[in-house]
Amino acid sequence: MNFKDICSQRYSVRSFKSTPVEDEKIAQILEMVKQAPTARNNQPYEILYAKTPEGIQKLTAGRDSFFGAPLVFVICSIDEKRWHNRQSGREFTLQDIGIIATTLMYASSEVGLGSVYVCAFDPIKTKEALNLEGLTPECMMVVGYPAEDATPSQMHFNRRNVEEFAREIK
Ligand SMILES: Cc1cc2nc3c(=O)[nH]c(=O)nc-3n(C[C@H](O)[C@H](O)[C@H](O)COP(=O)(O)O)c2cc1C
Repeated sequence: MNFKDICSQRYSVRSFKSTPVEDEKIAQILEMVKQAPTARNNQPYEILYAKTPEGIQKLTAGRDSFFGAPLVFVICSIDEKRWHNRQSGREFTLQDIGIIATTLMYASSEVGLGSVYVCAFDPIKTKEALNLEGLTPECMMVVGYPAEDATPSQMHFNRRNVEEFAREIK
């Protein structure tokens, strides 16, 4: 699939087959993520993933349901790599994390998997359950083969037209 098709066909999958995701596909996804840009090439992230029922069970400390998915990525920021732009005072870590998560999401599509980006979880409970030091769980990407009954939610079809969100600077 080319990128245009991936963008038009991707939707948030909230029902997965229990079929495990092949290790080779996990490796391919992570290789694609490795190429993603970050501010000042700071790479302020670590990615943990659970691919066994035991691993996924640990993540239920922070969230009840993973939609039956066999694979969950937890994208963490590295606390000591947070930095502020001197000019604006703004911190870029969350932008970097968003880029990493989005790349992971589209990389999953590229290898034939469905995904849903998840921020509704308790980062403190997740951090405790995983014994993380110096890392903050920022978001999760729930990944797997879509179940037969998987369909896009109504939200998927609610998009503004380009002319409603983009305008030329003249
Ligand atoms: C930053 C972010 C956080 C999200 N958090 C959740 C979440 O916690 N649970 C969930 O079911 N979907 C979550 N989503 C998915 C959005 O609801 C979904 O992308 C949006 O409704 C558009 O639908 P679509 O992805 O099917 O096109 C999140 C998406 C983004 C980008």
